[in-house]
Amino acid sequence: MKFKKVLALVLTGAMLLSVVGCSSKKTSDTTEPPATSSEEKKLVVGYAQLGAESEWRTACTNSIKGEAEKRGIDLKFSDAQQKQENQIKAIRTFIAQKVDVIGVSPVVESGWETVFKEVKDAGIPLVLVDRKADVPEDLYVSFLGSDFKEEGRKAADEMATLIGGKGNIVELQGTVGSSAAVDRQSGFAEVLAEKYPDIKIIKSQTGDFTRAKGKEVMEAFLKSDGENITALYSHNDDMAIGAIQAIEEYGKKPGEDIKIVSVDAVKGAFEAMIAGKLNVTVECNPLLGPQFFDVAEDIVAGKTVQKYIPSEEGVYRQDTAAKDLPSRKY
Ligand code: AHR
Repeated sequence: MKFKKVLALVLTGAMLLSVVGCSSKKTSDTTEPPATSSEEKKLVVGYAQLGAESEWRTACTNSIKGEAEKRGIDLKFSDAQQKQENQIKAIRTFIAQKVDVIGVSPVVESGWETVFKEVKDAGIPLVLVDRKADVPEDLYVSFLGSDFKEEGRKAADEMATLIGGKGNIVELQGTVGSSAAVDRQSGFAEVLAEKYPDIKIIKSQTGDFTRAKGKEVMEAFLKSDGENITALYSHNDDMAIGAIQAIEEYGKKPGEDIKIVSVDAVKGAFEAMIAGKLNVTVECNPLLGPQFFDVAEDIVAGKTVQKYIPSEEGVYRQDTAAKDLPSRKY
């Protein structure tokens, strides 16, 4: 009997000890810093890129992807191949994935209101990158990118200097309905109307921001007006590079017989300037990754961000191209 009592006491003690042991282990498990508590939650960002149509766009995409990797951001990236419906699909996927922030480079200006409202209703902040969208301001938090109208204005002044304020221009426009094309066209036209009445735009057509289309449209311009063209204004360098080929095949010297002003300032433009085939390129900065993720992180941290964050850009000419090229980042 005595032995039984002792055994019972020993067993109870052992059980108690094991319970204490278990519970203390449990406590230390939850207080140990495992995956959830001390590891910072990765920022998840969806980016609806519009396409891969130009050297500029490739540089922009690389900047976004590279910066996300550097900061350890979980980037969900989509390339819409210049189709608005693909961008809208991508945005809806990002909503379903409950990402923290959505970035969009809208291929065209119009047609965004419905999907942007869906983003807002889902409580996800939206940032416009590179191109604007024609929507009420409460549907996006911030827009960061270039002043395309100003680029068009700068291009017009450069053109006037090149051709002595007089001559016939053909214009290669970017994607129809894109803010880049709309504003570069109107900025250029505005300055001609204000200051240079003797410069006329005799032909203007889209080349969709690609080299292939730029060449094709320039061939058509040359066919109809070949002997009457003083200069080409191209909304981007890729189309200008395509047009240079067309001009050479037609038997004229690009940069001499037909002066050329374009926009972007990608490396290909510097190479063309060094070869004497392009005269001026107005800079449009594609390295938007650092700014975009600064804004995304600030928004998530609850900080106030600017509604418009402009890029700083210059103008590059043939005479300094060889000196400038080595320091170009895109
Ligand atoms: O939106 C920026 C424009 O898009 C660039 O100037 C052009 O090269 C690109 O395709």
